[in-house]
Amino acid sequence: MAFRIADKKAYLAAMTLEEKASLLSGKDFWYTKAIPRLGIESWMMTDGPHGMRKQATSAEKVGLLESVPATCFPTGAGLASTWNPELVGEMGRAMGIEARSEGVRVLLGPAVNVKRSPLCGRNFEYLSEDPFLAGEIAKAHIRGIQSVGVGTSIKHFAVNNQEKFRMAVDAIVDERTLREIYLPAFERAIKDAKPWTVMCAYNKVNGTYCSENRKLLTDILRDEWGYEGVLVTDWTACDDRVEGLLAGQDLEMPGNGGINDRVVVEAVKSGKLTEADVDRAVCRLLELHERAMAADDMSPVAFDRAAHHELARRVAGESAILLKNERKTLPLPSGIKIALIGAFAERPRYQGSGSSHIQPTKLSTLLDALKERYPDLAYARGYRLESGEVDEALLAEAVRVAREADVAVVCAGLTDIYESEGFDRAHLRLPKSHDALIEAVAAARPETVVVLSNGAPVEMPWIARVPAVLEAYLAGQAGGLAVADILTGKTNPSGKLAESFPLRLEDTPCFLNFPGSRERVEYREGVFVGYRHYDSVKQAVLFPFGHGLSYAAFEYADLLVSGSPDDGGSVTASVTVKNAGSVAGKETVQFYVSPRSREVPRPEQELKGFAKVSLEPGESTRVTVTLDARAFSWYDADHGSWRIAPGAYEIRAAASSRDVRLTAEIKARGTPLPRRAWSRTDTVSDILRYGEFKKEADEVLAFIRGKFAGSAAPGTAEDLMNEAMFLEMPLRALGQFGGPEGDALLARILSTLNA
Ligand code: BGC
Repeated sequence: MAFRIADKKAYLAAMTLEEKASLLSGKDFWYTKAIPRLGIESWMMTDGPHGMRKQATSAEKVGLLESVPATCFPTGAGLASTWNPELVGEMGRAMGIEARSEGVRVLLGPAVNVKRSPLCGRNFEYLSEDPFLAGEIAKAHIRGIQSVGVGTSIKHFAVNNQEKFRMAVDAIVDERTLREIYLPAFERAIKDAKPWTVMCAYNKVNGTYCSENRKLLTDILRDEWGYEGVLVTDWTACDDRVEGLLAGQDLEMPGNGGINDRVVVEAVKSGKLTEADVDRAVCRLLELHERAMAADDMSPVAFDRAAHHELARRVAGESAILLKNERKTLPLPSGIKIALIGAFAERPRYQGSGSSHIQPTKLSTLLDALKERYPDLAYARGYRLESGEVDEALLAEAVRVAREADVAVVCAGLTDIYESEGFDRAHLRLPKSHDALIEAVAAARPETVVVLSNGAPVEMPWIARVPAVLEAYLAGQAGGLAVADILTGKTNPSGKLAESFPLRLEDTPCFLNFPGSRERVEYREGVFVGYRHYDSVKQAVLFPFGHGLSYAAFEYADLLVSGSPDDGGSVTASVTVKNAGSVAGKETVQFYVSPRSREVPRPEQELKGFAKVSLEPGESTRVTVTLDARAFSWYDADHGSWRIAPGAYEIRAAASSRDVRLTAEIKARGTPLPRRAWSRTDTVSDILRYGEFKKEADEVLAFIRGKFAGSAAPGTAEDLMNEAMFLEMPLRALGQFGGPEGDALLARILSTLNA
């Protein structure tokens, strides 16, 4: 019978201060501490976001590459590209079952940090540049894992968007940007899916380490979002243990050899901490222990390796994005002669380096999978995996093989030395040998298909010279099968980009402010991240956010919107989608909201809803989403609240952020502005923003106009200038232009406004 805490108070009363402190840090790298006399056992947590990395040898071992075999699913970049929360939930469930069968109680993931720059070395693990999409995918992931009694740790809270200086840098981000871009994925997943634990990031945010950031850990996470679970530090992210506990941190990982346990005890004795501060964290830990140990009472699970491999294949099949497909190059017809080129075909890159690196149960390669269907396929290595330099002999062989085939399939991408946890990329280019290979093969065989395996956007200087490109991302252990399924038409591709592919690194919105200095990185682009920037400034991109082709063709019709976001209401948007193609397929309909009137600079449009549907040829269906008040709001940092600006909003039903099919409009009264104290430095336009004071604003305008009467003929430039200036004039100008009469009016207006 597993540990039960029917009465937390009784447990607290029974524990010594030393025992309490001991519960608040790990026993070692992966285990919590036990208190045998109270029935509290030690249990294991382990990475990671797309599979279980349970280290097989000593728990103290820090090496990343050896672990118990587990299914390696596609990494986060691919998961978000499925736009399919249901499928991600199914995968989460499978991961949970694997964890349970190995006695792992908490899986350390999902990793939801927003992709601020395509250079971040860990983008392969992260989900999206869009917080709404990231939040929806994370939610499904968490629910799936936790549905079988295994916990999660959503990470890295917060504003951890680069690897360079990640353990020390101070991310300087304004409040509005924090609320609109860097927190919502956490907020949505935490409120709706209630992860057992939240992992705080290494970096500082606005001057304070995340691990001791009271504003993040307590004010926002607990007080605003109502989070009741355990806050765990990223591994070694704890700087000052006492400050951390005061700020709301609970569990320090990994173990600290007892050093900080003694620090906690001493701090209580010296009065720096109260015992209540410690008890608060201990209570949360006791609850976590209860949840974690409950698995012991559940019926055992055994995991079916073959079934999970098939699931990994399905997930990879929906992760891959068909970026380009001219002249119907794909799917490949049967019976043709294929040249399969590129070492990745035989030694795939299917996951990333770092703490998420797992030992797969099996590995399918594209070479094997395609050979089954095209027995006379010719293979050429094309490049060496160990180096990015061109190998002329391998290149020549590839060209020869391509010439003799009907279609060339080139496998290219990034090797581990180009992207990883721990460092960022220096540029967006592929290895030289891969670019050269694609150019040479495409010149020899115009029917060239490029299959990319990389964790984040790359530049494609050869894009005009190849008819088809499939972005497979890091597709997990069954990626080879999934890619073969797509190339041959067994699977109709349905992935869509969860991030923009820029044309050049220099186009990225944070180009001048990434990664900053050792001390600080300033988020000067504000809310204009990814497509929020590109679409606002009409910057051409290589491939836009939300883009992805299918072998089917989808038509959109009859967009209807109803409802209002006013007074906490919501808007319903629905559209008919029809598969006008000749094969079954899946389409993700995206709903963007574009504010027509703006109180502050706002992105041209933002994703606020989506739905993926599966349609037979000729079939159509109605897709409906609900857009809540938040979908229309911006965060007003001056008043610490979300606001809907009064005016019109365009709702766009789109196949990508650059492929808007239908639009409709709704009008909002908007959120009433909070009451404020008025002073002589406020302007007429300030008053006009408060509709209720229109009469007073008109009176002020009439008075000033009177003072300037006859100075400009109506409609002239001078008249326009006057009118514009009157609106922006501080009220004190009444006296300055109007003498005692103006002063009297000023006093009267201020007393009415402030009444
Ligand atoms: C990573 C976390 C990971 C932890 C444990 C840290 O370095 O940032 O994502 O969960 O190690 O491996």
